[in-house]
Amino acid sequence: MKTKKDYRVAIIPGDGVGPEVSKEAVKVVKEAVRESTISFDFEWFDWGCDFYLKHGIMMPADALDILSGFDAIFLGCIGDADKVPDHISLTLLLQIRKGFDQYVNLRPIYLYDGVDTPLKYIRQGSIDLIVVRENTEGEYSQVGGRFKRGSPDEIAIQTSIFTRKGTERVIRYAFNLARKRQKLKEHSDYVGMVTNCSKSNALNYSMVFWDEVFNEVSKDYPDIAKDFALVDALTMWFVKKLDYFDVIVASNLFGDIITDLGAMLQGGMGFAAGGNINPERAFPSMFEPIHGSAPKYTGKGVVNPVASIEAMRMMLEHLDLDTTAKKVRNAVEYILADGKVKTRDMGGNATTKQMGDEIASRVGNLLDHE
Ligand code: IPM
Ligand code: MN
Repeated sequence: MKTKKDYRVAIIPGDGVGPEVSKEAVKVVKEAVRESTISFDFEWFDWGCDFYLKHGIMMPADALDILSGFDAIFLGCIGDADKVPDHISLTLLLQIRKGFDQYVNLRPIYLYDGVDTPLKYIRQGSIDLIVVRENTEGEYSQVGGRFKRGSPDEIAIQTSIFTRKGTERVIRYAFNLARKRQKLKEHSDYVGMVTNCSKSNALNYSMVFWDEVFNEVSKDYPDIAKDFALVDALTMWFVKKLDYFDVIVASNLFGDIITDLGAMLQGGMGFAAGGNINPERAFPSMFEPIHGSAPKYTGKGVVNPVASIEAMRMMLEHLDLDTTAKKVRNAVEYILADGKVKTRDMGGNATTKQMGDEIASRVGNLLDHE
């Protein structure tokens, strides 16, 4: 079925703890394809805040041209406010997301056995939802301006842009994903559901429009249940009944906010990964842990690499390497459930490298190949 076996992945380790977590994630993928017919070629790019201090830009002007030749991109984490103001350093991330039309930001909220959630009512295995965040427009459109700067009459305007095309495609993606997940469920009577994360009671133009598009698109999916939650109420439901959700579709900013909450409920930032996806595959997609660069922990080896390993697993899935992706998932599941190796965020004292090594060696022992 598949003929392509050699993959090229661009690694942008970025700032702070980025390089240490990227290293472990790469290690796990290499182990997962060792002795298989699949090969991965990883090319590392030193873009980020130190690059900025040298060159005055976060990445070269032709960065997107360079990256466009790769099958996928892995991003460690970007930002170090002591070196470069955040609103500048973060342009790297936003330029890639927008430049490669990665209009879906896929963020699974999944609780592994052996990982603690602050939610007391949760049974093992009951948190398995996914947020589909719009990733190229909305509140992040960067349209606006400052007027009468520095004067008492100063005005700042930041406009959200919601296009029909942009809104429809991300909502459609969410419904298709719900269908796909429904098919994968063991119980055939399981009905997939898409929750519309909205705020149409207050945002009377953009979100009323968003709701209209949601309702139109949902008509094409009579087999999938549709659900509605205002974003503020949704944060409440996340805490009260997280196991209720399946697929949630949200605008750029709302998706950003609810996935940080989701990350805490799935055990912390050490477990939360995301994929910036161009579903048409016209451009490479980009995978990243959603945690920040934590500059104060740089080089200390205390950060949990599972989020990065999980991001690589999402990349493998995106490349249709399902068997390899499953191997990585099985290894992560095994090591976390086993509980012998715990990083500091999990209450243990294993290092970033020890956790990476354990998962890699478990992956190496799983013989299945694509
Ligand atoms: C994220 C981050 C980014 C975002 C920042 C760093 C611009 O918080 O990926 O969630 O807001 O999208
Ligand atoms: Mn965020």
